[in-house]
Amino acid sequence: EKGGFEHFMMKEIHEQPKAVQDTLNSVIKNGAIDLSSVEITEDEIKNFEQIYIVACGSAWHVGMAAQYVLEDIADIPVRVELASEFRYRKMPLNQKALVIVVSQSGETADTLAALRLAKEKGITTMAIVNVVGSSIAREADKVFYTLAGPEISVATTKAYSAQLAAMYCLAVQFAKVREKITEEQYSYYLYELLTLPEKMQKTLEDKERIQWFAAKYANAQDVFFVGRGIDYAVCLEGSLKLKEISYIHSEAYAAGELKHGTISLIEQGTLVIGVLTQSELYEKTISNMLECKSRGAYLMGLTTYGKYEIEDQVNFTVYVPKVDEHFVGSLAVIPLQLLGYYVSVAKGLDVDKPRNLAKSVTVE
Ligand code: F6R
Repeated sequence: EKGGFEHFMMKEIHEQPKAVQDTLNSVIKNGAIDLSSVEITEDEIKNFEQIYIVACGSAWHVGMAAQYVLEDIADIPVRVELASEFRYRKMPLNQKALVIVVSQSGETADTLAALRLAKEKGITTMAIVNVVGSSIAREADKVFYTLAGPEISVATTKAYSAQLAAMYCLAVQFAKVREKITEEQYSYYLYELLTLPEKMQKTLEDKERIQWFAAKYANAQDVFFVGRGIDYAVCLEGSLKLKEISYIHSEAYAAGELKHGTISLIEQGTLVIGVLTQSELYEKTISNMLECKSRGAYLMGLTTYGKYEIEDQVNFTVYVPKVDEHFVGSLAVIPLQLLGYYVSVAKGLDVDKPRNLAKSVTVE
């Protein structure tokens, strides 16, 4: 049942290229995105003034990454909200908004409550959901199924990746319908999207390097993940993966925030992991990391092949293939999932069933 892998998590990490491929194939047909299965019309897409993305945990991290992509490509304002906050917050909601809830299980209590709240207010809702026939899938106005297949490991990997792929498709299609990109740009984005599964596969091939590093840092007390923009969203997910299955305290910081407090925690040997896939932000983040290094931190840098200058700046480097920078989070997250996995294994922990956690959180 584990397909030759020692744990479900590792099996599911390896199923990510397929989960993404299947999810992309469900809406990309004959060189175009077709959202008819989601039952959303071009008129609707044209008329939304705002998107709210509401979710919990890793699904919320998908929203955090997607907001940068939707805002940049489709030029539509996006707010990302934790479902547990959104449902109790008395915020004015734009009636011409689209509320997108994201959930693997489709049963998360807070996300379901947020969906119901949006519906009560008469706002159009869409679910990006993995489990067919789940409560969230049944109640949302529109459903975009992620085709990740059953996910057993408590720590999500392939569902997260499939959710992100679904978001990319929405971003590119919204951009096209709202006339924010040219036909050439549209074709370019589709082409780049379709290269993702193969590049994810390639990223997985470097796993021994992460395994070696994980063994070396298995006894770390605290780990800091830093990045900006999409890289920051990837940091949030990397940090959660590490803490939930390896029980190492970790935090994700928007790199520029370090000097507003957290840098006081950096000591001799503290591990700082920087995600640096966004060319425009590279110099900014690396300089924040070097400030940590001069206070004794050990630096791991995660970037794309070609940015070899990083070798002179950090202590340990991990590269992922190049892809359009809006979509590179799908590659950058993989070494971080592997890091959490290998640290957990090195510590002899129950990788698939970490303490105190349940796969589906049906109480608030
Ligand atoms: C972390 C993890 C959780 C879930 C969260 C939402 O690895 O799995 O943070 O992402 O509980 O669950 P769903 O997606 O089922 O709503």
